Amino acid sequence: MTELASSPKVTFIDQDRRRFVEQDLREQVAVAAGQAQSYTVPVLVMSEQRLRDNVRRFMAAMPRVQPHFAVKANPDSAILTIFAEEGACFEIASSAELDALTEMNVPVEHILYSNPIKSPKAVRDAAAAGIEWYSVDCSEEVAKIAAVDPTAKLYIRIEVSNEGSTWPLAGKFGASAAGVDRIIETAQRLQMNVCGVTFHVGSQCTNVNNWVEGINSAKGIFDKLRAHGYTLELLNLGGGYPLQLTGSEPTIEEIGAVISEQLESIPSTIKVVAEPGRYFVGSAGCLITQVVGLATRDNARWLYLDTGFYGGLMELAQNFPLTLVSRRTGAAESWAMAGPTCDSIDVLGTHQLPANMEVEDLIFMPNLGAYCTSCACDFNGFPAPALVMAS
Ligand SMILES: Cc1ncc(COP(=O)(O)O)c(C=O)c1O
Repeated sequence: MTELASSPKVTFIDQDRRRFVEQDLREQVAVAAGQAQSYTVPVLVMSEQRLRDNVRRFMAAMPRVQPHFAVKANPDSAILTIFAEEGACFEIASSAELDALTEMNVPVEHILYSNPIKSPKAVRDAAAAGIEWYSVDCSEEVAKIAAVDPTAKLYIRIEVSNEGSTWPLAGKFGASAAGVDRIIETAQRLQMNVCGVTFHVGSQCTNVNNWVEGINSAKGIFDKLRAHGYTLELLNLGGGYPLQLTGSEPTIEEIGAVISEQLESIPSTIKVVAEPGRYFVGSAGCLITQVVGLATRDNARWLYLDTGFYGGLMELAQNFPLTLVSRRTGAAESWAMAGPTCDSIDVLGTHQLPANMEVEDLIFMPNLGAYCTSCACDFNGFPAPALVMAS
């Protein structure tokens, strides 16, 4: 986004940036097209090169920040291996994610447990594996962890603004000021070590100010923790780094510059990490789906795909600004799009596609490397998308 100098201020999408997005879409579709000839089931084509580039760009954009990939975004073992090779560490939410990493021999010191609410069994599994760091956002969780591992290191997940994020997480998680006080009180009583702070600005966050606010709020909590005798070790900037979907999103370099400036006031003794999920995998994945049916109803034309809400496209139902690419040309028309199952929840909104779409046409959906296959199931017997790595 570029701002005009004159008043009143107008913001517009820089043409270069729009061109970059279009070029990027073409590249993603070109990589996926190689897998289209032999199409039988929906397939998410991941680009190995793009996965590596995403990690490198993130690290270059904020050199002080060690990324811990949020495994939930795409837990495919080949992807995790590539990220480990690139020097990324990991963030987990469950025992299954922990198992995936321990099977790969990822050192436990490279793993953060950032799900604020963990089952007692999950904490026992993590402690048995040697996990040291856990996030907490309520006093109950402090007590739960204390009962299993009194030596654990805790970082408090604080609430921050999620304004400007496509998928806000505020409300469900995050301690308020009073909540932080309760956490500290409980930790002191149970002699637990609270030595870090984290926050999450919401997923696909286009508002850089959320990170600025988060870092400033963390500084305030650091002061409070120090006053209670704790020694600070960790600042965790969470996830939320956006994909370039429309060209209006800040780039990772712009976000990195703002974050790096804010970090200048954080003592060098404090390790700074982040938990990118969507940014690492999203632009590396292009989904190929097939049209299985067309229907003309009284007030709309419907287009049914071989994958849908249950098959990894649940974010489409929430206004994900997706570009759909068809090989057909011609005038665009509004199509009510839906998945193949018999459930009424399996509808994907209205989208522009050529008016002459036919059954068995393929549709390419770029930027779906995150939260697609990891959220998919085979409800009604329709297969979840397969994942293929294109090197
Ligand atoms: C604790 C935590 N960290 C990181 C992430 C990754 O967020 P994103 O994919 O928006 O980067 C999530 C996503 O829900 C999360 O819950």
